[in-house]
Amino acid sequence: MSNTPALKQSALSLPPKVKGYPLVGALPGLLSKRLDFLEAAQKQYGDIFTLDLGFSEIVVMCHPRHAQRVLIDHMKNYVKEGPIWDSFRTFLGDGLPVREGEPWRKQRRMMQPAFHHQKLVMLTEKMAESIDKCFEEDWEKAANSGEPFDIAKAVTRVTMNVLVRSLFGSGMEQGEADRVSVALAYVFDFMMLGIMTHSLPEWIPVPGKARYKESIQIIDETVMRVIERGRKDPTVGDNLLSLLLQMSDPETGEKMSDELLRDEAVSLFCAGYETTAVSMSWAFHFMAQNPELAQRLETEADAVLGQRAPGFNDLQQLTYSRNVVLEALRLYPPSYWMPRQTVAEDEVDGYRIPPNTMVAIILHLLHRNEDAWTDPNTFDPDRFTPERSVGRHKQAWVPFGAGQRQCIGKEFSLMEGPLILSRFAQRYRIKPVPGRVVERHVSTTQHAKDGVWVYLSKR
Ligand code: HEM
Repeated sequence: MSNTPALKQSALSLPPKVKGYPLVGALPGLLSKRLDFLEAAQKQYGDIFTLDLGFSEIVVMCHPRHAQRVLIDHMKNYVKEGPIWDSFRTFLGDGLPVREGEPWRKQRRMMQPAFHHQKLVMLTEKMAESIDKCFEEDWEKAANSGEPFDIAKAVTRVTMNVLVRSLFGSGMEQGEADRVSVALAYVFDFMMLGIMTHSLPEWIPVPGKARYKESIQIIDETVMRVIERGRKDPTVGDNLLSLLLQMSDPETGEKMSDELLRDEAVSLFCAGYETTAVSMSWAFHFMAQNPELAQRLETEADAVLGQRAPGFNDLQQLTYSRNVVLEALRLYPPSYWMPRQTVAEDEVDGYRIPPNTMVAIILHLLHRNEDAWTDPNTFDPDRFTPERSVGRHKQAWVPFGAGQRQCIGKEFSLMEGPLILSRFAQRYRIKPVPGRVVERHVSTTQHAKDGVWVYLSKR
């Protein structure tokens, strides 16, 4: 918390409030225009401002120094509590992303080994196999037929297969994975509305809520079946679930209960599924729009890999592929906001942030902040070269969060992205479908509204 004396702090003013309507404040603008509304507010009020949402207020922050303060320097004062996180908990239970305090620390310590470097090296081969399998099933057909192809949908199938194989090995069948994929997509789409309507009494009808509940049930039942299979046959082995099944509390020796296993498995699934898919859809969108970018990816893939499949040791040399992924994550961070609630009063940029205040770091705006990025709205992967990164604020790029609660799957994702891009560049060429405009849709993640339609051809 701030070192400023208490008397001086309470004399500080609150961050400026965005003008809105009586009773509902800025909510109509936020619901209809979402990130465009926040962008306009930032232009008018600066990098920190308050939104009145009618039922509550939220302080919006858009500068790298805010990420530094909230996620790292004063992280203990900014916790995952309050109505937003309660709403996430209705689905994720006690999973890692929504836990707090000592139980979070203990659980993170237990799960971290599953994401260690060595485990990831082992996973690369599986990832490459899953990518190739999907390419052979869907992408090859599209390249041969010359028909328009929704590459956003196709890459979602790739990331889903990679995740299912990494999390559950052969424990989840293809039909189950397809059903869960549809259910998860719906849960993601509904979740934002779910958060906003979480405090309403049960008897007020919220459109889509029944299907949301049904979808959760499908996910739950499938995950529980996979856990059961894993318990019956622990030899199935080298996947994340089998590691979780073996884990025990270092003090009590207790194993994870089925409920906690379910919560962790669903959380990993949820956190890893749409996020990677969405970032890769944007990367392909930019590749289709920009022939020079596609050409550079080809040249890199040819030089580093020739015809063979990429492996872990190649990743270090696939620098342009990696920079394309980093830039897609900058311009379109799949998790575009990070909500928290203050414990005690704090001072940020000379403003008072009272206790129990909802705060949201808006990654979409932070990643385009002109204090950190030149020409921020342009897609330019070369901004991540070492020379051009000198002097940039450390928290100017935080698509995976920062500090202790940084994404546990960050390295997993940053391996998968370049593997997909380089494997693609070895085999295919891409062109946009004329007349199909890609529009951003902002729900739980920000993705392309009606897909990313392209023509594929074989090289
Ligand atoms: C491009 C892909 C991904 C993005 C952009 C992303 C983003 C994030 C962000 C922003 C957070 C922090 C949220 C906060 O502090 O409020 C987070 C946490 C988390 N992510 Fe990811 N993620 C991605 C992929 C994955 C994958 C592949 C997995 C697992 C297989 C995963 C598992 C998790 C978990 C378990 C947490 C909670 C960590 C904790 O609280 O200790 N994520 N992710």
